[in-house]
Order: sequence, then C-alpha cells, then structure tokens
Amino acid sequence: MFNPQPPIAGSAPASWHQQLVPQEWARFTADDHRVWDRLYKRQLPYLGDRIVRPFLDGLEGLGLGDGGIPELEALSDRLEAMTGWRLVSVAGIVPDHAFFDMLADRHFPIGNFIRSTDSLDYLEEPDCFHDIFGHVPMLTNRHVARLMEAMGRLGGSAIAAGHGEQVSRLYWHSVEFGLARESGEVKILGAGLASSFGEAHFALEADVPRPRFTLPDAAGTPYRNDCFQPLYFVSDSLEGVATELESVDLDALMALSNQASLGRRGL
Ligand SMILES: [Fe+2]
Repeated sequence: MFNPQPPIAGSAPASWHQQLVPQEWARFTADDHRVWDRLYKRQLPYLGDRIVRPFLDGLEGLGLGDGGIPELEALSDRLEAMTGWRLVSVAGIVPDHAFFDMLADRHFPIGNFIRSTDSLDYLEEPDCFHDIFGHVPMLTNRHVARLMEAMGRLGGSAIAAGHGEQVSRLYWHSVEFGLARESGEVKILGAGLASSFGEAHFALEADVPRPRFTLPDAAGTPYRNDCFQPLYFVSDSLEGVATELESVDLDALMALSNQASLGRRGL
C-alpha cells in the first residue's frame, strides 16, 4: 500500500514495524470472501493475455485462485520460499518513509480489509484485493523482487534528502501503472492496472502516450492519483530496470532527472 503524498516536512522516520497490525483472517466474513471471489473471477478473464507472463505464473504458483481472501502468513511463507519477500499486514495507507523502508527489507504491506460488495469499483484506499492480487504475483519474479528492493533503498535515501517525489514517480510509472514489452507486445505490468476493472484496457487501448520507461523520464514526470493516467510508461525489460535501479544512487538519479528527454510534464 502506497501513499502518493509527500512526507510531512521534518517528520522523523520511525521503524516500519510500528505500522503492522495482525491480519486477523478469522475476522473476515463470508461476504468478505465472496467479494474476493467475485473480483478474482471477474478480473482474470478481463485481463486475459493482456498481462505480463510473470503475473500469471505468480498467480498460479501462489495458489491465489483457491477461493476466498488468502491467509497472509501462509501466503507469505510461499512467497518467501520463491524470492525471499514476506507480506505484512497494515490497517491502511503507510507513510512513504515506512513504505520504502519495508521494500528495502523485502517486506510488502497488505491492507487488512476488503472493499464492500456495493463498491466493487471504487476504492478510497487500496484494500487487500489490490495489494494481494495486484502486487504479490509479480513479487514471485526475481527481477521484480530486485527492482522493488532497489526502489525501497532509493526511496529511503530520497526522502531523507527531500526528494521522495522523484522515487514515488518511478514507483508509480512502473510498479503501479506501468506497462511492459513482452515478446514484442505491450502488456499490463502495474498493480494499479492489474487490479482495476476499466483502466487495464484503457491503458492499452486509449489514445494516450506510451513512452519508453527510462529512469530520467519517469522520475521527471508527475502522475495523477485521482483519475486514469494521462500516459503510461512501457518498460523494455524488468531485468534491465532492476539492474539500472540497483546501479544508481540518489545523486545520480537527480542528475538524470534534470536531463529528462521528455521534460517536465504538467499533468
Ligand atoms: Fe498498489
């Protein structure tokens, strides 16, 4: 879960462990599990082959379609055996510094609630369907696992230096609302698209720009969090993005951002 707002100036980073709450899986009602099943059964055919292969492999490998909201500890054990990532339960949006610190430690936060049956397509904040269905399958991919850890480390240092927004943009334009090229075809990559009924098709079909993802351009391009995106970056290679992210520090990123070929877009 990611809060796309700048951190409060001067706020002291606290250990991300302070954000954790028990999932209390037994608290979920039969209606809650039915909401999960409805969303899952609707989304998978909707995505079809428009989503990158690692997502589909991850869904299958983790058994996410077994029915009902997954129990987090068991799911986390399966994920850890694959890429070393673990899932932790949170009650809502996590402050940016804690969020990036979690990623740097290979932990991903999962909301301990699910949307109600009468608001399947409207979310005030990301719930466990978005967090699990959208994000967790990709965390089974070793390149995404590296990419996310590198993003966390970069985010932590960026916030400390007052430049968290640039790394938030990188995250937004790849992990949340990015596309990726796979065998010559542009496919859905980001969790915000994978878990959305509507924007996943829009991102591929609408008459909007789909520039190639580069660190400078993505870091230099603002995003919207109140409507469909006005553009979608396309990553050429998850391995390439991971390697590039691992190789840059904050100073290098800032220097690159200032030379962005797209320039600063006012969205
Ligand atoms: Fe997300």
